[in-house]
Amino acid sequence: SDYSTILLSTRGRVGWITLNRPEALNALNSTLVEELAAAAAAFDADEEIGCIVVTGSERAFAAGADIKQMEDRSAVEMSLRNPFVGLEAFSRVRTPVIAAVAGYALGGGCELAMACDIILAADTARFGQPEITLGVIPGLGGTQRLPRAIGYYKAAELVLTGRMMDAAEAERAGLVSRVVPAADLFAEAEAMAEQIAAKSLPVLYAAKESLRASLETGAAEGLRFEKQVFTSLFALDDQKEGMAAFREKRAPRFTNR
Ligand code: HXC
Repeated sequence: SDYSTILLSTRGRVGWITLNRPEALNALNSTLVEELAAAAAAFDADEEIGCIVVTGSERAFAAGADIKQMEDRSAVEMSLRNPFVGLEAFSRVRTPVIAAVAGYALGGGCELAMACDIILAADTARFGQPEITLGVIPGLGGTQRLPRAIGYYKAAELVLTGRMMDAAEAERAGLVSRVVPAADLFAEAEAMAEQIAAKSLPVLYAAKESLRASLETGAAEGLRFEKQVFTSLFALDDQKEGMAAFREKRAPRFTNR
């Protein structure tokens, strides 16, 4: 591929993005964020891909935004040319995204995991928002997505102290959906991704969009949105096929139509 900070592969209907800056524990610099967003957009545009997995190395999912790249920037420079804006585009891909996390997921790395839909953790995973220690605050969603994920009080403790939590604590808090032995992380992520990718693509988009609305709207508006989207799915062949397959006691054959 033409990418220098990530590796790409496709297995079946699953697109894999592996962060690959081992010299910096996969710290997110502008190149990595741009490449990540471009790769995710390309998988998103590919009808053969039904789920994306983002992962890092054994030692680090991502140890945060690249401190050495940011350190000397002025506020004006950060505002005119934010090196991390690509993460917003990444968080808007329609295809479901699983973060398969081993080792450090700190700062922007934790925020990247939270920009995904599902976080699967190896027992070696460690999550945190240490920005306060560097004299800044989270800037890629940490003060917004973390309280929604684990509640205000626990999120406040993590953001204000900068401490890390291990995989077991992250699972108890509701940030990660499951903890698996590190040696099984890829196999477990693949099994989960294949289960998702076997579904109808437009229905996956609808489910993700409706889930996402829950993070952005009040309950009443969200419920109206969900009902609209639910109703519109009865225009799809795949709804007829899914329900016929149930009645006929067979597996559905979705056509993404
Ligand atoms: C740049 C980083 C880095 C980072 C690690 N490295 N994290 N470089 N940015 N975020 C580099 C180190 O400088 C070192 O390079 C190499 O990776 C290995 O890291 P070590 O520190 O030697 O490893 P270790 O002692 O095992 O410690 C691991 C660690 C520590 C606990 C994860 O690296 C660490 O605290 N990193 C910073 C974590 C952090 O503060 N993240 C938040 C960033 S701010 P050399 O060249 O010395 O070998 C952020 C803001 C987001 O994310 C908002 C943006 C808008």
